[in-house]
Amino acid sequence: MKHLTLNNGVKIPIFGFGTYEISPDQTKEAVLSAFKDGYHLIDTAQYYQNEQQVGEAVRASNLNRDEVFITTKTMTDGYEATKQGLDESLNKSGLDYFDLVLIHWPMGHDLDTWRALEEAYKAGKTRAIGISNFNGRQTLELINHAEIRPMVDQIETHLLLQQWKMHEFLKKENIIHESYSPLGNGQQNLMTNPVLQKIGEKYGKSPIQVILRYLVQNDIVTIPRSTNPAHIKANIDIFDFELDKEDLKQLRALDERKPIDGWPAEMREDEDY
Ligand SMILES: NC(=O)c1ccc[n+]([C@@H]2O[C@H](COP(=O)([O-])OP(=O)(O)OC[C@H]3O[C@@H](n4cnc5c(N)ncnc54)[C@H](OP(=O)(O)O)[C@@H]3O)[C@@H](O)[C@H]2O)c1
Repeated sequence: MKHLTLNNGVKIPIFGFGTYEISPDQTKEAVLSAFKDGYHLIDTAQYYQNEQQVGEAVRASNLNRDEVFITTKTMTDGYEATKQGLDESLNKSGLDYFDLVLIHWPMGHDLDTWRALEEAYKAGKTRAIGISNFNGRQTLELINHAEIRPMVDQIETHLLLQQWKMHEFLKKENIIHESYSPLGNGQQNLMTNPVLQKIGEKYGKSPIQVILRYLVQNDIVTIPRSTNPAHIKANIDIFDFELDKEDLKQLRALDERKPIDGWPAEMREDEDY
């Protein structure tokens, strides 16, 4: 598994497992299935209500705590609520620390919220801190006033919204680009996309493996979600082939700058809609 290095030196696996919309009673089993197949990064959030089960899976696995990378996200606005919420997340998960804590989405008092994350980072409650759903303007606003620079921005990124402008911006700012909904939240009929099918045939890979490989090959941390053990296993089986220049060109041409309906509209500021 390839790793990327965050701006504080911490290493993050380039590929992981998302747990949005996985119910609490399905989470432990799904995460254990992912661990068995070689995933080491698990993405949860206060909003998903499954932090407890993610922690249970970590303890039930045969992996040491320092072999897994656990991300959670806050859903509170402001310093006090976020400080309290983070302690609750640690309690619920039963973990001594997180590897990454993100502000789930901008909410208004983001600098105050960020102070709570900075404090948790300094106290060793998390090894890294970052943001999610922040566009370029919002990210700069935070960087210009924060003590500690965010290490990651997790943003909607998939075949139809490839986020190249944000990617370049984040690279310049030394912030890692993490893709959420890499399979378009399951809404994009990827398996029947003729371009993905054709490229996949060359390598004996499925259309979904092609898009996941495409993101990873562009140094984007990628966290698909599934509750189907066969899908979980297939999704990580993307490290034994390499897309060539022509494939990359064809895949890039499929970008429609099209977010999933109703998802954070502010991200559109970064594309020339
Ligand atoms: N920061 C944020 O605001 C935010 C927002 C959204 C998501 N996220 C994170 O990103 C993660 C991934 O995004 P997502 O959950 O929206 O969805 P996604 O990973 O883009 O897509 C998941 C869907 O794809 C299907 N799928 C997965 N592998 C497949 C395969 N090999 N073949 C066919 N279908 C397959 C799954 O169905 P099966 O279960 O049947 O396989 C599911 O319906 C989330 O779980 C979460 O951790 C973050």
